[in-house]
Amino acid sequence: MNGSASVQRDWIRHPTMSSQRPTIWIARTLTDATLARAQRDYNVLIDEVDSANDADRIVDMSARVDGILPCHSEVFDAATVARLDSRTKIIANHSVGVDHCDLDALKARGIVVTNTPEVLDDATAEIVMLLMLGAARRAPEGERTVRSGVWNDWNPAFLLGQQVSGHRLGIVGMGGIGKVVARRARGFDMHVHYHNRSRLPVDQEQGAIYHDTLESLLAVSQFLSINCPSTPATRHIINRETLALLPRGAILVNAARGAVVDEDALLDAIKSGHLAAAGLDCFEQEPGGNPLFAAHENIFMLPHLGSATVQTRDAMGARALDNLDAYFAGREPGDRLV
Ligand code: DGY
Repeated sequence: MNGSASVQRDWIRHPTMSSQRPTIWIARTLTDATLARAQRDYNVLIDEVDSANDADRIVDMSARVDGILPCHSEVFDAATVARLDSRTKIIANHSVGVDHCDLDALKARGIVVTNTPEVLDDATAEIVMLLMLGAARRAPEGERTVRSGVWNDWNPAFLLGQQVSGHRLGIVGMGGIGKVVARRARGFDMHVHYHNRSRLPVDQEQGAIYHDTLESLLAVSQFLSINCPSTPATRHIINRETLALLPRGAILVNAARGAVVDEDALLDAIKSGHLAAAGLDCFEQEPGGNPLFAAHENIFMLPHLGSATVQTRDAMGARALDNLDAYFAGREPGDRLV
């Protein structure tokens, strides 16, 4: 996907800068299409290695560029934002989630912040279904059994899992991704329930049942999908107490953010059998994940792949560049948050 000859990834070897064009820093490897468009329209500084999640590096680069195109992995917390150089005017995130950005601090510094909503809803909902099916149908054990060459027997009682069809799915957070998850789940004949800050208009619910409290949703959720943003208010909303409300044998999937789930509590719920399985695409510690999960084959894990398709990454890159283009042309960026 990446590395085509048309994309110049080493800015040091291509230092030709035009004073007519804004200079941006692309903090991580993006798709060829995104990089080609960025290099067509901007002076682009690109790191040779993806090592940008370092406050000193971010502060250093902020003095060299007019805008930054980071991913969710680059942390703009209050301390880092206070040190940013005034040359940087816009942070055009290549992500829908902005929990890595202290929006109040950025607003106070007069720095514009944008994200990339909607374009990753389908891809992320697909990963939710993959997590749900993989966890329910024991995909990690099955895959390992075949791959490692130890598959030497079969009988009708072998690796029995749970069927998703006909079961109740609780969705926490009925934004863009949650709505697509609901649509996909209906295709599996699941009964969709949800909790959201506010109830959807009835025509958008498509029969999904609204719960005005998380607790009420958990009590009916044989499967639970976390699709809410990570904010101070949602940190560890899935914890020892709330996990206990799920029916015994429930399956939890999280393709939102690790911070929403207390991982110690999740591990204990897996160990006790209260949760039959979990499917996780995100972790409190990324990259890396939680090494304590590795011993449990009923935890199906992926390395934050929710939006990782070529189409979606191209669309996210295009959306981030659209926001930069608008800002530098003196227009309001379509996805401006502050
Ligand atoms: C997002 O867009 O927030 C995804 O997690 C990928 O960064």
